[in-house]
Amino acid sequence: MSKILLGILGSPRRSGNSELFVKELYRRLKGDWRLQLVRLPELDIRPCRACYQCLMEQGRCPQKDDFNLVLDALVEADACAVAAPTYLLSANASLKRFLDRGLSFYAHLDKLWKKPAVGVAIAGIEGLEGSTKLSIDSFIKLLLADHRGSEVIYGALPGEIFLNNGGKDAAARLAERLVHGAPQDQSKVPACSVCGGDTFRFLPEGKIRCMLCSSAGEYQTRGGELGIRTTAGEHPLFLSYEDVRRHADWLRGMKDEFLRRRRELKAVVQEYAQVGEWVRPEPRQQ
Ligand SMILES: Cc1cc2nc3c(=O)[nH]c(=O)nc-3n(C[C@H](O)[C@H](O)[C@H](O)COP(=O)(O)O)c2cc1C
Repeated sequence: MSKILLGILGSPRRSGNSELFVKELYRRLKGDWRLQLVRLPELDIRPCRACYQCLMEQGRCPQKDDFNLVLDALVEADACAVAAPTYLLSANASLKRFLDRGLSFYAHLDKLWKKPAVGVAIAGIEGLEGSTKLSIDSFIKLLLADHRGSEVIYGALPGEIFLNNGGKDAAARLAERLVHGAPQDQSKVPACSVCGGDTFRFLPEGKIRCMLCSSAGEYQTRGGELGIRTTAGEHPLFLSYEDVRRHADWLRGMKDEFLRRRRELKAVVQEYAQVGEWVRPEPRQQ
């Protein structure tokens, strides 16, 4: 039976660069694969309402929209490829909107854990990708998938990524990684020793924090080379299967914690109840 590659597209543009990239990657896959596609911006995926019901007994988001359609497709897929364009220096917001519903992933931990995944960040202007790659890396890690690689590709017009911009080579590289995993000889770019992330916050006193897994550590320069050493903190979100389970249990435990402390919390909240004036739309005429 064919394996299923789920292409998750964060672009509203039909036949745009994100879509073409995933289709090319699929064509480069070795073996017997089928390609399924979801275009997040055209789906009705509403904001998380912070009700935490997906973490409780029923294990499903109660909102009646397209979220569970995508989640089910993801659960059934054998691998996934995430592609999104840069919009104003970050990934198109449809990716985050889906991810914000991600407490629902914990109910499917066994099927999602270590599902092979790769990502591509598309940007129209070289160097103006902002945090798009980080958003995509974070999306893949928080899907609980096995992140096998991601790249930034430049091209503004639909199809431009395949006109001498290295797009096809990148698709071939990521297709290879999706099937066989990341090669041992990683690039020389300084990376987080815990998760491989390549985006950091520099903190006072030579400290550093990985923006992908939140591990903290130190950096030094030796012989003109930057060295980074990070160690996992006490509350990792996705580094191991046990971490994920522990975090889900911790979240579930917050319900009891809330019930235990609700009087104390209510006193804090009430003090602010009447402060400020809300700007809200008038009810619309039908
Ligand atoms: C609203 C909007 C904002 C954009 N912002 C950026 C940006 O900050 N940096 C950049 O390099 N390209 C930016 N672009 C260009 C797109 O990333 C580029 O056209 C890309 O190829 C679109 O991918 P798609 O064809 O998959 O939609 C922007 C495009 C739009 C429509």
